[in-house]
Amino acid sequence: MKFAALAAALAVSALCLPAATTVKKGDYGKMPDGTPVAIYTLTNGALEARIITYGGILVSMKTPDRKGVAGDIVLGHDDLAGYMGDKGTYFGALIGRYANRIAHGAFTLNGAAYKLAKNNGENALHGGLAGFNSRVWAAREVPGGVELSYTSKDGEEGYPGTLKAVVTYLLTTNSLQLHYTATTDKATVVNLTNHSYWNLRGDGDILNNLLTINSDRYTPVDAGLIPTGELKSVAGTPFDFRKPTAVGARIAQNDPQLQLGHGYDHNWILNKSGKGPELAARVDDPASGRFLEVYTDQPGIQFYTGNFLDGTVKGKGGKPALLHAALCLETQHYPDSPNKPSFPTTELKPGAKYDTTTEFRFGTR
Ligand code: BGC
Repeated sequence: MKFAALAAALAVSALCLPAATTVKKGDYGKMPDGTPVAIYTLTNGALEARIITYGGILVSMKTPDRKGVAGDIVLGHDDLAGYMGDKGTYFGALIGRYANRIAHGAFTLNGAAYKLAKNNGENALHGGLAGFNSRVWAAREVPGGVELSYTSKDGEEGYPGTLKAVVTYLLTTNSLQLHYTATTDKATVVNLTNHSYWNLRGDGDILNNLLTINSDRYTPVDAGLIPTGELKSVAGTPFDFRKPTAVGARIAQNDPQLQLGHGYDHNWILNKSGKGPELAARVDDPASGRFLEVYTDQPGIQFYTGNFLDGTVKGKGGKPALLHAALCLETQHYPDSPNKPSFPTTELKPGAKYDTTTEFRFGTR
């Protein structure tokens, strides 16, 4: 082959090869007891994800807009002190042992009664007073990303069983993948998620974002945001996102469920055709041209419109996090499943493996 032809062939194959992810580890400060916190920077082509070992928090996610200009599309803080001092938002964190709410901070499993801290009114929320979001995870670099491990002791935050959780963040050319596994030595309940606050424009509010959720039904809630147990059709309600609809189009409607949530703060039951990850939701930001697709094998997704952000919490650059500054799409089992025998079970038994995948795909149009 002539040199020019060979060079052209090589150039083509180089274009076709997916860019490899590079992983870089840095320091992110120390916990009050001296435990070091690390930050992992994953880069692949135009994407960059930064994850810290405190809470396994996705502290920044940079993706290009339609003009190719990179921007950070998640809310967060500037430093470790910011994350440690923020007890309410769960910006970017890994949530466990049980994401979302458990009614009255209590459940019974195989005849034994368990009590959890009531850290959200009368209910337990996001794993308790010191959930997985505020623990320092062990970390190691793996091809394409970082693997985080945390062992939660038997009885920690009131949950039974020693739970070994391993969460891997992988960056590809167009996505961030989260792979969650866990095992236990005693029957327990598990519901892990990531609590990123997405703002695809990187600024302002998310009310103009077009949202699609692949769901025909959701779980209406009571005043404490605990599901009533009903699986309600979204048809004819402001909860129908089966076609792309602006997040803000119906958020202020006189709807009892929207009033209870102060906006959207509900679990949608995902339509499923198989067992593997499927498209659960898509967000299109007309301003930046960015879109986000969420794929998961989980049965539900909590769509939360940052209704409790009121400017009290200061985010990156000291900027107040204002109402509807971001949206969360938390892939999960339904809230309060440990008290709802009719919901898919969240019980993990010894010898079994909790194993689930969620992928956030990024693009522009
Ligand atoms: C909950 C909200 C809560 C937010 C931050 C979401 O998962 O559904 O009610 O305010 O997390 O804690």
